[in-house]
Amino acid sequence: MNAAETIISRRSFGQTMRADPWWIQPLLVFLGLSIFIVYSTWAAFQGAHYFVGNYISPFYSPEIFGNSPHSWFGAKPAWWPSWLVFSPALLVLWAPGGFRLTCYYYRGAYYKAFWADPPACTVGEPRKTYLGERSFPLIMQNAHRYFLYLAFIFLVILTIDVWKALWFVDATNGKSSFGIGIGTIVLAINVVLLGGYTFGCHSLRHLAGGFLDQFSKSRNCYRAYACVSCFNRRHMLWAWLSLFWVGFADLYVRFCSMGVWHDWRLI
Ligand code: FES
Repeated sequence: MNAAETIISRRSFGQTMRADPWWIQPLLVFLGLSIFIVYSTWAAFQGAHYFVGNYISPFYSPEIFGNSPHSWFGAKPAWWPSWLVFSPALLVLWAPGGFRLTCYYYRGAYYKAFWADPPACTVGEPRKTYLGERSFPLIMQNAHRYFLYLAFIFLVILTIDVWKALWFVDATNGKSSFGIGIGTIVLAINVVLLGGYTFGCHSLRHLAGGFLDQFSKSRNCYRAYACVSCFNRRHMLWAWLSLFWVGFADLYVRFCSMGVWHDWRLI
């Protein structure tokens, strides 16, 4: 049999045969994630205007220590080092932040957008070696499954926050009564979108589907797998919608707390 020798040459950075505007998607991802990172970092360090009445910003929930009535264990503890900046958000944001950072979708998106590895499919990248996710530091991405467990806890806590957002205290007599404000709806949509994002997680799909290299024979497992797959098909959409909305929910509570916006009561 005759064999032909083929020399595969490595593309240089940005070189491609693609004729479509491939750079638009990584550019949008870069802009979208940059805006969110800058805003959420700024908001997390504020330590103020994160609650108003029965609403609390999802960036600050659960409030483990803090000055609001939502705090679980009271104000900032006396043992907190004076040189260390304190904000209730900094105690909790690492968990949802880690969940998104290690998400399979976001990895693919920010590897392309932030360090061009590669900039897009079949487009030349700026480096010649590939260590992948089997060596430090990217091997840390394998912690995603554990962040998923934490994400479920956060979902429960944020759902309780929505329940609390249904009860408004009358300033004149101190009694609380049922009601729905725009803020209640904003916080409820946040939970729905975060739920859609979390329930479409690839790791949850693996958990629901069975064991290592083996699909479960249980009918219930199959149903759970199908359900997660349904969310998973639109995982990118859930990821962006929930990212945008969690930022907006913080902004809504912040502006209401500052008196910039007024929270309209529907009921
Ligand atoms: Fe995206 Fe798990 S893969 S949240």
